[in-house]
This record gives sequence, C-alpha cells and structure tokens, in this order.
Amino acid sequence: MEQLKQKIPVAVLGATGMVGQQYVALLADHPWFEISLVAASARSAGLRYGEAISSRWYPEAPLPDRIKNYTLIDALDSAAVARKAKLVFSALELSDKDELRKVENAYARAGVAVVSNASAHRDTEDVPMIIPEINHHHADIIPLQRQRREWSGCIAVKPNCSLQSYLTPLFALMQAGYEISDVVVTTLQAVSGAGYPGVPSLDIIDNVIPFINGEEEKTEQEPLKILGEIQDGRFTPRSGIRISAHCNRVPVRDGHSACVSVRFAHAKPKFDRVIEVWNNFRSAPQELRLPSAPTQPIIYLDDEARPQPKKDRMRHNGMAITVGRLRACPVFDIKFVGLSHNTIRGAAGGGILNAELLVAKNLV
Ligand SMILES: NC(=O)c1ccc[n+]([C@@H]2O[C@H](COP(=O)([O-])OP(=O)(O)OC[C@H]3O[C@@H](n4cnc5c(N)ncnc54)[C@H](OP(=O)(O)O)[C@@H]3O)[C@@H](O)[C@H]2O)c1
Repeated sequence: MEQLKQKIPVAVLGATGMVGQQYVALLADHPWFEISLVAASARSAGLRYGEAISSRWYPEAPLPDRIKNYTLIDALDSAAVARKAKLVFSALELSDKDELRKVENAYARAGVAVVSNASAHRDTEDVPMIIPEINHHHADIIPLQRQRREWSGCIAVKPNCSLQSYLTPLFALMQAGYEISDVVVTTLQAVSGAGYPGVPSLDIIDNVIPFINGEEEKTEQEPLKILGEIQDGRFTPRSGIRISAHCNRVPVRDGHSACVSVRFAHAKPKFDRVIEVWNNFRSAPQELRLPSAPTQPIIYLDDEARPQPKKDRMRHNGMAITVGRLRACPVFDIKFVGLSHNTIRGAAGGGILNAELLVAKNLV
C-alpha cells in the first residue's frame, strides 16, 4: 500500500482503559491515522487526558505529549465524535451489551467506521469478526451491512484476546491442507486482560484462578465464525471442528499463553512440515504491507522452554504470535504452546490492523 495523502482522523473510545491506553500509545506515530479525539465515560469527560490517566498509564511506551492535553469527551456522544473522526476504535467496557450495541450502531449511522474490541457485536450476523491473517475476506460483507442497515459508516469487530495465540497457527495448518477435527486448549491469561484495575492483587499473586467469566464460551465459539464463510448475506460458522477450552487467570502482566492439543481429520503432518508451514505463513496484511503487519506473523521457537510471556510477547512490536514445544500428543496428534500479547495483538494492535485492512479495501 502506498502512503495516504492525508492522515485519517480517528477517535479512541474508552481511551482511559487498558486497551484504550494501548491504542493511544500505538497510534502516536501511525502513518495513516491521527488521533483527533479521546473519549471515555461521563465520569472522565471534561478532564485532560493526562490528568485522567495520571499514575495509571500502563503501556511501556511513554504517554504521547500531544495527547496529554486533549480534553476527554463522553464516548456516548456519537454526534460530537463524528464531527471530528472518520473512524473510531471502540475499547469501551459497558456491562449492558445492548447499550453498547446501540452506542456502536449510532456511530455507524453517523457515518463513522467502527472497529470494536468489545464483544457486543461479535455474534451479529452481518458484522465481520476479523483476524486479518485469517479472514480478511469477511470485510467484504460491509457494503451489504451498509445497504441493509442504511448506514454510511460500518462496524467490524475483533475477537476475544484468548484465541489469538493459537487460532492463526491452526489456520496456517488448515490452509496448508491439514484439516483439523478436535482441539483442546488451556489458556494462561495475563492480568491486563481483565482491564483496569482488574483482578485484586491479593487474589492473583501466588495464585491461579481457574475461571474467567464467559471466556471459555468465547474461546470455543468465536473461532467457528472466523473460520466460517459468508452465505446469503450472513456468516455461517465452520462445522466439523470441536474446540474445548479451559481458561485460567495467571499472575503475568501481559501475554496470553495457550497449551493446545490437536487432532487432524485425515493426514497428519510431520513435525518439520508443521514448523515450515508456521514459519512461512504469510497472508493479506503482509502482501498489502499494512503498517502494523508483522513481517512474520507466526514465529516458531526451537528452545524447549519457550515461548515465555516476559521474553517473547513483544516480538514484531507485540504483533507476532510465537509458538513452541511442538511434540506428539498421545491422545490427539500433536501439541504445542502459543503466545500472543493480549493488549497489542489481542486488542489494540489487532484493532489497528483491522482498520488498516478496511482502508486498504477502500471501506473507510
Ligand atoms: N484488556 C484486554 O486485554 C482486552 C482484550 C481484548 C478485548 N478487550 C475488550 O476491550 C474493551 C475494553 O477493555 P479494557 O480492558 O480496556 O477495559 P477497562 O480498562 O475497564 O476500560 C474501560 C473503558 O470504558 C470506559 N467506560 C466505562 N463505562 C463507560 C460508560 N458508561 N460510558 C462510556 N465509557 C465507559 C472507561 O472510562 P472511565 O475511565 O471514564 O471509566 C474506560 O475508558 C472491553 O470490551 C474488553 O472486553 C479487552
């Protein structure tokens, strides 16, 4: 993709939260997007961003000076945001999903492209849920979405952060011709995945919590929509794959790991072939040279004690998925460990890559 003549003005909704802050950090020097507005709840509206964030700035990159002085506005005021932004990154956490759907719809109606990290629209039949390396073509439903709903904007969403660490490696194998029938996955999820202030320290230090509300259902169901197809103007989930998930919260700051066992439906690849497929996997984001695309989206690490969140989550600016520990599974066929940075690849970085895809497809 060539450079754009002018940067696209964007807003971050939920800019004070864990994901919103990561958006602010990642968009600071973005070649296509420029933050024109930051928004959060009515509680924060009217405060300067730097003041609202004060000691809870979370990304490792510094808080950009330019944004510190922006005045936060109420994210529910879609009309005010639409006057200053063509695209919004929605990182809102609202307990009422119907309310959140209404908020995001109001943006799309006002002519804004919405890229959302929230779960409210993930099941909506004409809203694409995109991991650009896997189902970039699902964005092609947007013209129909616009026509059907009489929106001049649009909505595309990101899936849950729990599945980024293993779904792309599985997809790479499927695309290489190795059909998969069964997957058992145990996730080890970082505390930043729970938002701010998240899990109380006394609950998580020296501990593992074997329950994250709603996470196992999302980990089992969302991949089927992502691997599915558009039929008769809606998404039909992929059939023939069963996924069973155990999701755990662990005392790690950033980076969700997944221990995965896989059964193939027919032919089973040799280990060398699996590693070759993973390391050579490239897709639309790399072909289109999208600014946030990792040049190598899946990296296999030979070291038997990797991947590790602390050492590997920031590969390719937090956008690559690292895999390791490929070995035989005595119950299924193979097993491995996957890792992805939950607030970058699994949230803000993944959202930005989705937005870049929409721009490359002339949908913004
Ligand atoms: N954390 C992750 O790793 C991760 C990964 C993938 C997806 N997600 C999803 O991304 C979204 C944000 O997650 P998070 O972890 O960043 O949450 P968070 O830290 O709790 O931040 C929530 C944000 O929503 C705003 N907000 C809350 N109530 C609001 C209201 N009534 N009206 C308008 N804004 C309101 C908050 O503003 P105030 O500061 O003013 O309250 C804050 O900016 C969620 O939908 C989450 O499920 C999170």
